[in-house]
Amino acid sequence: MARKSVKRITVIHGPLLDRLGERETDLYGSEPMAEINASLIAMGKQHGVEVVCFQSNDEGRLVTEIANVRGKFNFLIMNPAAYSHTSVAIYDAVIFSQTPTIEVHLSNLSRREPFRKDSTISSVVVGRIEGLGPDGYRLAMQYCLERLVGNVI
Ligand code: DQA
Repeated sequence: MARKSVKRITVIHGPLLDRLGERETDLYGSEPMAEINASLIAMGKQHGVEVVCFQSNDEGRLVTEIANVRGKFNFLIMNPAAYSHTSVAIYDAVIFSQTPTIEVHLSNLSRREPFRKDSTISSVVVGRIEGLGPDGYRLAMQYCLERLVGNVI
């Protein structure tokens, strides 16, 4: 199992996060997903940790990807985007993954429409970072790296 030798973290983005930089920049910031991913991969590299990023607009593909995390990665950092508020399948997949998960949201969900307040996965993740824009992903990465290799924070 890769978990014992190479240390690996995966970052999974849900629908429309591939359009960061174009979509509602007041809420989500102007940094494109590719730049966020590049910064996360670079952070991992600095500490000898492999970082693999994935994005899909399809719930089923996300579920498959999350299920495949099981036994392969030490941490999952995930922003399920709109599926956060609706998806029991993603909730089940996170449980199935048996992988400590950090939930990230760019915007502060408590300051938005009431239907965004609840996330199906919040009760099964280690913790949630929200409202800090793209830096939320980097803070989640710092947290994971600290636990994997130490001397990061
Ligand atoms: C989001 C918040 C969700 O409510 C929304 O549907 C998104 C992005 C965020 O990162 O703030 O697409 O997950």
